[in-house]
Amino acid sequence: MKMDRNACRESVSYLRKQGMGDVDFGLILGSGLGELADLIDNPIVSDYAQIPHFPISTVAGHAGKLIYGTLSNKKVLVMQGRFHYYEGNSMAALTVPVRVMKELGAHSLIVTNAAGGVNVKYHPGELMLIQDHINFMGNHPLIGKNEDAWGPRFPDMSHAYDEAYRTVAKQVAASAQIELQEGVYMAFSGPTYETPAEIRMARAMGADAVGMSTVPEVIVANHMGMRVLGISCITNLAAGMQANLNHAEVVETTNRVKHAFQDLVLAILEAL
Ligand code: HPA
Repeated sequence: MKMDRNACRESVSYLRKQGMGDVDFGLILGSGLGELADLIDNPIVSDYAQIPHFPISTVAGHAGKLIYGTLSNKKVLVMQGRFHYYEGNSMAALTVPVRVMKELGAHSLIVTNAAGGVNVKYHPGELMLIQDHINFMGNHPLIGKNEDAWGPRFPDMSHAYDEAYRTVAKQVAASAQIELQEGVYMAFSGPTYETPAEIRMARAMGADAVGMSTVPEVIVANHMGMRVLGISCITNLAAGMQANLNHAEVVETTNRVKHAFQDLVLAILEAL
């Protein structure tokens, strides 16, 4: 599968034909947050499987739809369910939706995910504003020929998570009395959870949370000059900090806090 700008434009022209208009904010909804898409006014929905050049999502609990419409008075394009590297997608393939968002006009990207807490002060169920990330996935979505029309060969990642957006997020959380941690997200490829030794390494390297997503999309958004806001739901303590890890707990925690998480994302979107 070719993932160049022409392929991307075929995806975009398909979506335009479905009636999708210009986008302000792209949203990627991680595990458990998908219901936010049900709040979109005048939605236009496309199954990933119908969209040219889109990869296939294989994880249970990730719906696999692209939804255009109005949310918090903003024109949004929402990914209900994301693509993961561990599913076998190339990094170029799994970030196609971010390219598409930008080609539809999106100036900003909001990403959410589930993550394991590495910082000993974090508790399951808390939300963490992503301040910065560490790409530990062993691959990079911009490897290969650069599309100069999209962005530079060597993008600056000094401000990968927009500072002004983070300030707004913290103000919104404070006024809604939602506790919001702020920290560094470190991405592993998965699909195993990390070992306790890997988590000690992650902490020593400056990580506050670990997960298996988000970093490829955020790199691509930065490549195209998009402003990014990221929020993690700390669903569990990372390996070695609690007895065992399992996906059921991740789902259980996201379900427990999804309403607060949704409310926060909606209020931040309103304020941006
Ligand atoms: N590690 C990696 N990914 C995760 C975790 C974790 O502990 N929790 C939720 N996603």
